[in-house]
Parts: sequence; C-alpha cells; structure tokens
Amino acid sequence: MKAAVLGTGSVGQTIATRLAGLGHQVVMGTRDVAESKLRKTADAFGNPAIGEWVEKNPSVKLVTFKEAAAFGEIVFNCTKGVYGIEALTLAGKENLAGKIIVDISNPLDFSKGMPPTLTISNDNSLGEEIQKQFPNAKVVKALNTMWCGLMVNPAMINGGDHSTFVCGNDQDAKVQVKTILKSFGWAEKNILDLGDITNSRGTEMYLPLWVRVFGVTQNGAFNIKIVS
Ligand SMILES: NC(=O)c1ccc[n+]([C@@H]2O[C@H](COP(=O)([O-])OP(=O)(O)OC[C@H]3O[C@@H](n4cnc5c(N)ncnc54)[C@H](OP(=O)(O)O)[C@@H]3O)[C@@H](O)[C@H]2O)c1
Repeated sequence: MKAAVLGTGSVGQTIATRLAGLGHQVVMGTRDVAESKLRKTADAFGNPAIGEWVEKNPSVKLVTFKEAAAFGEIVFNCTKGVYGIEALTLAGKENLAGKIIVDISNPLDFSKGMPPTLTISNDNSLGEEIQKQFPNAKVVKALNTMWCGLMVNPAMINGGDHSTFVCGNDQDAKVQVKTILKSFGWAEKNILDLGDITNSRGTEMYLPLWVRVFGVTQNGAFNIKIVS
C-alpha cells in the first residue's frame, strides 16, 4: 500500500515507522522539507526532532504535504488539530479526493497552558469539519484516544486487551481502516465502530479526561477498555 503520513510530530513518526515496518511504501508530509530537515532538537518528552528522525529512517521520504497526499492511496492525518484544515488544504483537495483520510488528530488548544481546551466540541468535531471541507474524501476517525506508542503496539499494556474506536460515513473505508488496525495488533473484538463521522465528537471530547489522567499519572501508556 502507498501511504501518506501528514505530520512530522511523534504521531506521524510512530505511524510512519510502523507502516514502513509492515512493508508499506510510506512518505511523510510537512510544510517545508528543507526547514524540517534542519530540526534536530528532541521535544520535552524526548521524541526526536524530525530532522534527526528522517536521517534514521531513510525508507520514509520527507516531502511536502501536497506531494505526500498525491503519492498516498491512503492518507493519515497526524497534524496539529488546530491547523489540521490548513495542512489538508496544503495537501490539496484534488489529492485527497476518493481517498481514505485516517484522522488521528485532536482539536486541542494549548495556548492558555495545561490542560488544553477543545476548539470544537459538543455539536461539531474536527473529524466532521474535515469531512465537510473535503467532501470527496472518506474520513475515518481512529486512534485519537490514546498515546501514539499504544496506537501501533496495543500489546504494550494489558496483553493488548483494550479498546479503540473508528467512525466515519463510508462503511468500506472503515473496513479497510480496521484491517490496518488489526495489522498494528488490535484484536477485532476491541475495535468498536461508533457509526458515522459525527461520533468523532465523542472520541475527541474524551481528550479533556485523557490529559487529566496523564497529568496525575505522568504515564501515557493507558487506555479505555469497554467492559459490560
Ligand atoms: N502525541 C500523541 O501521542 C497523540 C495521541 C493522540 C492524538 N494526537 C493528535 O495527533 C496530532 C499530531 O500530534 P503530534 O504530537 O504528533 O504533533 P503536533 O505537534 O500536534 O503536529 C505536528 C504537525 O502539525 C503541523 N502543523 C503545525 N502547525 C501547522 C500550521 N500552522 N499549518 C499546517 N500544519 C501545521 C506540523 O507541520 P510541519 O511538519 O510543517 O511542522 C507537523 O507536521 C495532533 O492533532 C494530536 O492532538 C497525538
């Protein structure tokens, strides 16, 4: 599969590494390739800067958002939520048409410090906004409810027995995304299809709780398990 990972942060790096490790052809999108390659300072959590990461991952080519979207048969949106529409606009409507966008982003606003607030909530969500702005793409919201290390390696906690969600308007797109999640290690029984893209509201509005749990535990390797 030809995959475009839009986003150079820890999520983009993690998803790109996992997809490449599974044998997919992967490119990563950024705004300015030359400037991104110059970034060499790890973030506060020790995640490598993109300039350092690309040197260590030569199989993943760093290109512009537009070039990445043109290349990908499927597009992973791992961009900063508050700028997600801008990033996808740079990727180009024409390059997203007919393609699945796996939307992992969250509309978090850190401008007033911790904990962040949501810029969209209640009767709208970022997943829906992306679907509205890019009507010819098939947006599937997935994996946004957990730390990126767990997205691609659920076995890291509880023997892999915990929950993840998908939602989106296109049934076939969700089936394809579920197949990818299973290749990441998710068990079918733990992938809950919440329905259409309006259900992004639920997964995005979980983030205020996620950041508070992280705030007290300082450990991102936790997740929800639906029990009944
Ligand atoms: N970190 C996690 O474990 C985690 C877990 C669940 C969900 N998420 C969500 O996943 C997304 C990615 O998170 P992250 O921590 O990996 O990285 P991030 O710092 O939130 O986002 C980095 C990406 O956003 C792009 N970006 C920033 N400002 C932009 C602008 N003004 N216009 C266009 N693009 C812009 C950057 O482009 P450049 O490459 O050009 O700099 C970069 O590719 C976020 O929405 C986050 O909420 C994160």
